[in-house]
Amino acid sequence: MRIYQTDGYRDMSRKTANIISAQIILKPDCVLGLATGSTPVGTYDQLVEWYQKGDLDFSEVRTVNLDEYKGLDHENDQSYYYFMHRHLFDRVNIRPENIHIPNGKAENDAEECEAYDRLIRQLGGIDLQLLGLGHNGHIGFNEPSDTFARTTHLVDLQLSTIEANKRFFSSIDLVPRQAYTMGIGTILQAKKILIAVSGKDKAEIVRRAFFGPVTASVPASILQLHPDVTLVADEDALSLSGDSIG
Ligand code: GLP
Repeated sequence: MRIYQTDGYRDMSRKTANIISAQIILKPDCVLGLATGSTPVGTYDQLVEWYQKGDLDFSEVRTVNLDEYKGLDHENDQSYYYFMHRHLFDRVNIRPENIHIPNGKAENDAEECEAYDRLIRQLGGIDLQLLGLGHNGHIGFNEPSDTFARTTHLVDLQLSTIEANKRFFSSIDLVPRQAYTMGIGTILQAKKILIAVSGKDKAEIVRRAFFGPVTASVPASILQLHPDVTLVADEDALSLSGDSIG
């Protein structure tokens, strides 16, 4: 695992955007796996800025998002569909047909999940997967568990995740209880993985996930076994991992 320690959130966002931008320049029709949450917002802003300057072209880029809340439609401003359009897709020249996000309103859960994995295979797999890190070590919406889920599936969100995400909703009762997420197996099949983390509140989970044992009770810990992972984290997020990174 390569680790870049950055000087705060802005620097983390710039570094993360730099790596994504390099991927797009090297392979203009690459498949990007994308993430939501507050962490990648600055990354997306930076990519948009470079696009506006004429330094980046999204016209051939294809994207697959990690996850989506079950039950929220595209117009719902808390859906990940809405989030991605607001922070990135509506601001760059990506083609709508090249954007893929699990359908929160799918009628058949199993079919939706199977179709999503099939789609990723048909696209030729993910070249670069961007990830954030949940406070309980989740990636996408793969919550701590006894086993690592392989494929895209429907999950029951843990109370701690519902609590963490309630800040985006007007009331906790409106936070969906379930979500579709790529499985750990789906994520691990990405050729490269880029994980961005910022803030003191993530320091403990960063230490456990990347410098502790690999365990399904900390889903992100499995990334230690992937051959091409880059962690971009600010000094606060790495503040409890000092001895491990030297
Ligand atoms: C959500 C998303 C994850 C994200 C996590 C952390 O649960 N499903 O993909 O990584 O939140 O979010 P944040 O970056 O806001 O801390």
